Amino acid sequence: MTNIRAAITGVHGYVPDYVLTNHELAKYVDTNDEWIVSRTGISERRILKGEGKATSDMAVEAIKGLFEKTGTRPEEVDFVVCGTVTPDMMFPDTANIIADKLGIRNAFTFDVGAACSGFLFSLATGEKFIASGSHKKVLVVGADMMSAIVDYQDRSTCIIFGDGAGAVLLEPARDEGYGIIDSILKSDGSGVVNLHQKAGGSLRPASHATVDAREHFVYQNGRPVFKAAVSGMASVVKEIIRRNGLTADDIAWIAPHQANLRIIESVASMTDFPMEKMMVNIQKYGNTTAATLPLCLWEWENRLKKGDYIILTAFGGGYTWGATLMRWAY
Ligand code: COA
Repeated sequence: MTNIRAAITGVHGYVPDYVLTNHELAKYVDTNDEWIVSRTGISERRILKGEGKATSDMAVEAIKGLFEKTGTRPEEVDFVVCGTVTPDMMFPDTANIIADKLGIRNAFTFDVGAACSGFLFSLATGEKFIASGSHKKVLVVGADMMSAIVDYQDRSTCIIFGDGAGAVLLEPARDEGYGIIDSILKSDGSGVVNLHQKAGGSLRPASHATVDAREHFVYQNGRPVFKAAVSGMASVVKEIIRRNGLTADDIAWIAPHQANLRIIESVASMTDFPMEKMMVNIQKYGNTTAATLPLCLWEWENRLKKGDYIILTAFGGGYTWGATLMRWAY
């Protein structure tokens, strides 16, 4: 057994230019800015526009920035893992398409589903390949074009989601004691009834009937998801702090999944964290599913100091949830 610790050595994000405001949404569905802001904390979200544009295009933009920042060349990358529930197509995986667009030829590539936990689960996957000693430069991507599967006639879901992508470079930590320390990952398949996209898979292949029934869009029963998200994230955050012999005071930042500001506030209060330590950008981007965590790290990168203890936590469809503890390595 080797004992190599993986560290994030760079992060970059991308959001499309088009800003979909609450006021614009109020033209399509019966809602208003006041309701959306007070119930979710979201003021606007970004939407990828343009014929032929897809999730991979946003990921490619994020990774191009990451390559520039870290001086990484495509041929050095040996593994690309992409968390997404809005792949460019059913198969092959979007990670393959991303790699091809970037000229990455020496890597193996695949996608991870796990919905809003997609980046967290992908990060844990990449971390294991570094820790085993088998791989040295791993791209971990979280990218979703939620506008492709959101029903803009359903006011309870269309207000929440947005498009975006983020990516980190994972490498063996250069200095001892830095990098990813621990992860807790959980799943509960009974959550499928409350959050899913019913058609388009083998259960309900695409047909006129599935389209007419609007089954290719996100279905969400918001209240049980809200409750499960709060209790799920709070419990793993508490557990990962406890089992690593730390206290809340030792943690510099929490990057929580951006699903609803009220969920983030509840998690903060249940885990004894002040809101000042919670990364929050939901007001600008809404819920970008697998992209929320790397987009937070990207926006906070300049405020993070080497040695800071940081916790990432997510909750998503499945249900899936988890937390990762790391010491920031640069
Ligand atoms: N504008 C105005 N009214 C709306 C609305 C909107 N956009 N969406 C729902 N409503 C209405 C409902 O129709 C309902 O009206 P009624 O009482 O007359 O039936 C009322 O507001 C309350 O609806 P409810 O669904 O109970 O609201 P809520 O406070 O639970 O907020 C969500 C809805 C979706 C914002 C909230 O449940 C949520 O954030 N859930 C978790 C989402 C999440 O985390 N998803 C991703 C998982 S990773």
